[in-house]
Amino acid sequence: MKIVVYLGTGGVGKTSLAAATALAQARQGRRCLVLTTDPAHRLRTALGLGADALEQRVTLDPPAPAELWGAMLDVRSTLDDAVRMYGKPAGIDKVLAHPIYATIASSLAGMSELMAVERIDQLIRRGFDNIVVDTALSRHALEFLDKPMFFAGLSDLNWVKLIGRTYRFAAATPFGFFSRGSFELYSRVEALLGARLVTQVLEFYSLFVSIAEGYSERARQTVALLKNPDVTEFRIVSTPQKAVSDTSYFLAQLGARGFPVDAVCVNRVWTEAAGPERASGLEGELLDWYEAVRESQEREIRLLKNTLGGAGKKIIPVPELEVDVGGIESLERIAASARLD
Ligand SMILES: Nc1ncnc2c1ncn2[C@@H]1O[C@H](COP(=O)(O)OP(=O)(O)O)[C@@H](O)[C@H]1O
Ligand SMILES: [Mg+2]
Repeated sequence: MKIVVYLGTGGVGKTSLAAATALAQARQGRRCLVLTTDPAHRLRTALGLGADALEQRVTLDPPAPAELWGAMLDVRSTLDDAVRMYGKPAGIDKVLAHPIYATIASSLAGMSELMAVERIDQLIRRGFDNIVVDTALSRHALEFLDKPMFFAGLSDLNWVKLIGRTYRFAAATPFGFFSRGSFELYSRVEALLGARLVTQVLEFYSLFVSIAEGYSERARQTVALLKNPDVTEFRIVSTPQKAVSDTSYFLAQLGARGFPVDAVCVNRVWTEAAGPERASGLEGELLDWYEAVRESQEREIRLLKNTLGGAGKKIIPVPELEVDVGGIESLERIAASARLD
């Protein structure tokens, strides 16, 4: 099983390249799925999926020897599945029906980043050969890697464990419960959950704590797989104008967290203009301008090579198409002109 994770700033082509990668892998006979964490769901356009599809198999013509799937990260259904799979049987319905549950599922700060690794874990268990992850830029570039580890660290803390264990007992003695000391403790829970400190939150947490602990355990395992270079490749996506600065930024961010970067995809590279050798007038001026831009892109890619040095990272140039990337035909063109699989 292999995972490819695409990272980059907004609009550089992460979704397009992720979709083209999964397509190339399916053509190689591997059963693969591309998962987008972007709530904008541009993956639907890229793969030509149905308007409401949260997960859909893509039909290919000619058919690929293996399956190609596209999936949007749906926070609510990922969390529901985690509750059903890992909750204590007697508590599952209580959790799912709890009034706080819907609020938390939709409002807990960073929930979608927390659920990305959970969803990756669920997909690994379904036996895909390849999982391609198309990330969206959240407040910080790597929140989907940082948040789960932060959460896992929290559930190691004794005060968090205590809330889960002692709430039922404490709730029965409300006056003692809200002593100054415990109030301070519970306001830290409030900060964690981003919700008002109400009895319901604590009751919910006492039901939820085993699920949260199970989550932390799986998040640790998934993040370990993402750090394992035999399993996971991180690919930075950039454009020729910003290749060096984007790459330096993401290399530093990923390096500091111990994630291996395998390749830099320089997307939207202009190809040599096929046209008359020498044109005059406006056409000539345009061709000169095109050529000057193209050369500046080549210079940036040379600079990128120097920046990466002998670091063993691939540079994958991906040509600019004259159309938007939408639908299998355009993905086939990208996959044919760049080695992404
Ligand atoms: N190689 C390319 N050639 C032409 N258009 C591209 C190419 N790559 C991306 N695009 C276009 O750029 C826009 C942003 O691409 P997208 O993959 O959604 O970027 P991101 O996921 O990084 O935000 C889309 O309109 C897409 O069609
Ligand atoms: Mg995108």
